[in-house]
Amino acid sequence: MLAIIGGTGLSRIEEFQQGGFKRVLTPFSDKRVIVELYNFEDKKIAFLPRHGKEHSVPPHRINYRANIWALHSIGVGNVLAINGVGGISPDIAPGEFLIPDQLIDYSHNRKATFFEDKLKFVTHIDFTYPFSQKIREKLKFAFDHANEKLVIKQRLTERGVYGCTQGPRLETAAEIIRLRNDGCDVVGMTGMPEASLARELKLNYAMLALSTNWAAGLGEGEISLSQIESVVKNGMKFIVEVLKSYLRYDS
Ligand code: HPA
Repeated sequence: MLAIIGGTGLSRIEEFQQGGFKRVLTPFSDKRVIVELYNFEDKKIAFLPRHGKEHSVPPHRINYRANIWALHSIGVGNVLAINGVGGISPDIAPGEFLIPDQLIDYSHNRKATFFEDKLKFVTHIDFTYPFSQKIREKLKFAFDHANEKLVIKQRLTERGVYGCTQGPRLETAAEIIRLRNDGCDVVGMTGMPEASLARELKLNYAMLALSTNWAAGLGEGEISLSQIESVVKNGMKFIVEVLKSYLRYDS
């Protein structure tokens, strides 16, 4: 089964038919992870809003281990993550999209592995290529297909580097210069350890990122939340169209 992990602005998918919930108990919390099930045409998918239904869990407090464990335990094999990001590359302006092929992790103090307690042997996953090539290709296809129907096209950068900061504060201008020098094209707060935990459980994982603002120091003035919200609202409408074409052509 495919799971969609929704980011800011995607805490439900109204156009899909609801198909109930799974309330999954995991070793990582007393609280159950609530995974929604949706039907779209003949496909069943799982949906997990990573900030919670009410968008109240900040990036550093998300229980990434519980979320990924829960998806794995209900039979999810593929994960498509939707993430809002700040644009660093001049090609990824607010409202534009990226399917990253690499990441750099600047987050810290997050529970970032399943492989630490009661180990028979020390385990290191290969993470050379953090995102699933197969899902990335399907996403690109679905994106192009959804775009065909539009008069004013959405812009997609097909590869690039996602930098994951700790948050919840936004970055300083100097931090963004550092990230740019490191090769980051976008900056977000929630891609890690989500992506590496998925790899630890052998889930195929890829991300569709929506630039919601220029990263700190690259736009004019301060980063305004109200501006981000309006970009997110429009961007998510298109993302739902991408998801529909993804599901239609997913075998
Ligand atoms: N920085 C970090 N995370 C983000 C940003 C940003 O500018 N925009 C959306 N998520």
